[in-house]
Amino acid sequence: MTTTNKSIAALLACLVGATLMLGGVALAGDYHQGSGLHCTDCHIMHASKDGTTYNSGTGYDNLLKAASATALCMQCHDGADATAPDIVATGTAAAPNDTLGTAYASKYKNSGGYFQSDYGSAQSGEGHDLYATSALTAIQGTWTSGTDGMVCADCHDPHGTANYRNLLLQPGTGGVDISVRSGTEVYLREAITIPPTAAATAIHYDTSAVGFDDVNHVVDWCLDCHTNITTGSGDTPPKKHPQDVAVSGAEGSHWTGGTGSGFGTDVGDESSGIPRIRFAQDGASYAATTTVADTNQVFCLSCHKTHGSRYDSTALWPYYEGGADQTSACDQCHNKGA
Ligand code: HEC
Ligand code: HEC
Ligand code: HEC
Ligand code: HEC
Ligand code: HEC
Ligand code: HEC
Repeated sequence: MTTTNKSIAALLACLVGATLMLGGVALAGDYHQGSGLHCTDCHIMHASKDGTTYNSGTGYDNLLKAASATALCMQCHDGADATAPDIVATGTAAAPNDTLGTAYASKYKNSGGYFQSDYGSAQSGEGHDLYATSALTAIQGTWTSGTDGMVCADCHDPHGTANYRNLLLQPGTGGVDISVRSGTEVYLREAITIPPTAAATAIHYDTSAVGFDDVNHVVDWCLDCHTNITTGSGDTPPKKHPQDVAVSGAEGSHWTGGTGSGFGTDVGDESSGIPRIRFAQDGASYAATTTVADTNQVFCLSCHKTHGSRYDSTALWPYYEGGADQTSACDQCHNKGA
């Protein structure tokens, strides 16, 4: 699907969504949603429980367990709670790294990527900013954040949504629901375990555990804020990198072969090549959507982590930092390097 078909796709997504709802099938975020929405994770009724008080017994706005919603989320998601996926690396904006408390197996760590530890006091060129001294405007778009930067709720609903990872149905300015659901647009290798365990969390949220259908709507979802970051299929030759296009038009056989220019075992090491980057593929299961073929498509998450990465522009590899892996992702699809 191309972005010129965006409105048709969105309409179809709504129709598909309506059909599924009529069928009574609940496809949604896996936790903080439905029966997995545990009020006790986030709210406290009287600002105290069993000798623990919140804000010295005064409590916080909205009966939250922390002074702000982001601080609340980070009480568990900064690595402190081993059962919650860790999305905060130990580095800083000035010296970013990918060291996380959760033992993700993939070289690309957790699927959503990570903020750096000084996320509350520094802006970063390696990710979305949870701190700012004035409102942020989405690059190539018009959406603006609150005056002190972005918050988790700009992208996730704390009370859950029908989407994968409780992603907002309308994060930006588009005004149309965008369907990025588990079971239609996204396929997970294994189901979530409730109650969560540390071992299951490390496996479930790993980059390798998620498969994206070619109709994944992730591009539309990002474009809801970054409206003009790409152009449609009519743009020939293209002026911005194409999205949702199969690698067969590039160097299909090099891509499927998986060896040589661009391919390697680790990212950011001193050896040329990185593990195969993410792609989208037509299919109706995790196995089908993660099958390597020249019909695999390039999309935002082929090159970017959403929260952040250790590299400039949230890239999966050191495109600006340089070194042996500098052009690796490009070469996997284009085979232009040495
Ligand atoms: C993952 C954290 C989280 C969980 C779990 C959670 N909440 Fe909330 N809740 C919030 C946050 C953050 C706010 C602040 C306002 C907002 O962002 O919606 C809030 C606000 C509210 C509000 C006031 C604003 C509104 O949306 O009406 C109510 C009522 C509420 N929550 C009820 C509940 C109930 C009932 C449960 C359990 C069934 C629950 N919440 C579970 C995070 C959570
Ligand atoms: C009390 C700890 C706790 C707090 C507070 C908390 N979370 Fe979570 N969150 C978890 C755990 C545990 C999981 C993983 C559950 C599992 O794997 O079974 C999770 C999972 C998630 C997921 C993935 C859900 C999915 O569908 O896979 C998202 C997104 C998320 N949290 C966002 C938030 C946001 C946003 C906030 C703040 C509004 C927040 N969390 C606050 C513990 C917490
Ligand atoms: C709710 C609006 C919103 C959504 C949705 C959104 N972004 Fe952003 N994005 C922003 C804003 C605002 C900035 C500029 C400030 C910053 O860096 O945080 C930004 C910055 C970026 C940057 C530059 C980061 C840097 O430090 O150089 C990249 C890359 C990016 N976004 C990619 C994405 C991708 C990929 C998606 C979809 C998975 C996405 N964005 C979804 C609002 C959004
Ligand atoms: C710019 C939008 C954006 C912001 C801001 C954002 N998230 Fe996410 N988050 C996403 C997307 C998109 C995914 C899924 C991406 C993927 O699987 O590649 C995700 C995934 C997650 C996950 C699942 C674990 C993982 O690594 O996939 C958790 C937990 C989570 N986010 C929590 C949070 C919390 C807590 C905050 C605030 C501190 C936050 N997010 C801020 C967009 C955002
Ligand atoms: C996951 C595969 C993939 C990755 C990674 C990728 N591309 Fe592409 N690229 C494509 C596809 C598919 C097209 C459209 C078909 C074509 O033009 O070959 C394309 C098109 C292009 C074009 C336009 C070609 C024209 O027709 O004018 C350029 C330039 C380009 N890519 C450069 C890059 C660079 C530089 C990188 C690394 C930063 C990169 N690409 C990474 C798949 C990819
Ligand atoms: C083929 C790889 C590739 C794909 C696919 C891709 N990007 Fe990028 N993106 C990059 C690179 C590399 C940069 C760093 C700037 C540069 O050199 O082009 C970047 C930069 C950005 C920036 C920051 C621009 C600035 O002014 O600093 C945003 C925002 C962004 N991308 C969003 C997206 C979104 C949203 C998508 C999906 C619609 C997407 N990107 C798809 C490779 C990609």
